Amino acid sequence: MNFPSDFIRFLTTAEQVVVLTGAGVSQESGLRTFRDAQTGLWAQYKPEDLASPEAFARAPKLVWDWYAWRREAIKGARPNPGHYALVEMENRIPNFTLITQNVDGLHRFAGSKNVLELHGNIQRVRCSECGMFTETWGDDTEAVPVCHECGGLLRPDVVWFGEALPRGELEAAVRAARACQVFFSIGTSGVVQPAASLAHAARNNGSVVVEINAEPTPLTPRVDYAFHGKSGELLPELVKAVWRN
Ligand code: OAD
Repeated sequence: MNFPSDFIRFLTTAEQVVVLTGAGVSQESGLRTFRDAQTGLWAQYKPEDLASPEAFARAPKLVWDWYAWRREAIKGARPNPGHYALVEMENRIPNFTLITQNVDGLHRFAGSKNVLELHGNIQRVRCSECGMFTETWGDDTEAVPVCHECGGLLRPDVVWFGEALPRGELEAAVRAARACQVFFSIGTSGVVQPAASLAHAARNNGSVVVEINAEPTPLTPRVDYAFHGKSGELLPELVKAVWRN
């Protein structure tokens, strides 16, 4: 990719950078993006129909099993060159915030430090009644495991449709987006709020907005620079062009 020279120059001196990532960043780690068709057993369900409090109330075992299936896939996944390029960016930029909608934990696994997990983390489990976190639960194949304390059903500590985002993370994300000089939106379809609005908050505060995505999104017409391709290829190329020349 030939990145424009004014963009490269600008990045060389940027002191405050925010990156928002979505499922596309983990696609090259072998994880399916959210809006890809599901496979096998899960092909008949839309993720949106499994990731909600209503779905859990209606069919808790179905929802639990879907997350168990995704947790298993994530267990075998490793960060890809895109994740590592973002670690290098963090090391080069004085004030760097990585905001992710991904629940797979791969940014931290790769070594990113200042990470805001807006949609939670699939490896954490909490009680749907009393909220207590737990790291161990039985794997009874017949029923959803229950809380040691109150007997409530356990659920993944992720944000479902219709639920509020973790307040501290969201506030920090909005603050960072409003303050940054450059805002990257990477591997996200940009259709799920409030994450999608962060790019607009950045733009309204004078930030340069950049998209890196496999294909155009609703955000594309509003960005200063759009680079279309795989993040696992474009991000290492960008880091090389800016910092290793
Ligand atoms: P999506 O599945 O909606 O979008 C993934 C985007 O990544 C698409 O635009 C793809 O074109 C792009 N993509 C795929 N492979 C790529 C690659 N190798 N490099 C770069 N881009 C690639 O996933 P998200 O935008 O993350 O929320 O979805 C946002 C939220 O919607 C999720 O966090 C989840 C879901 O509902 C909740 O569960 C609350």
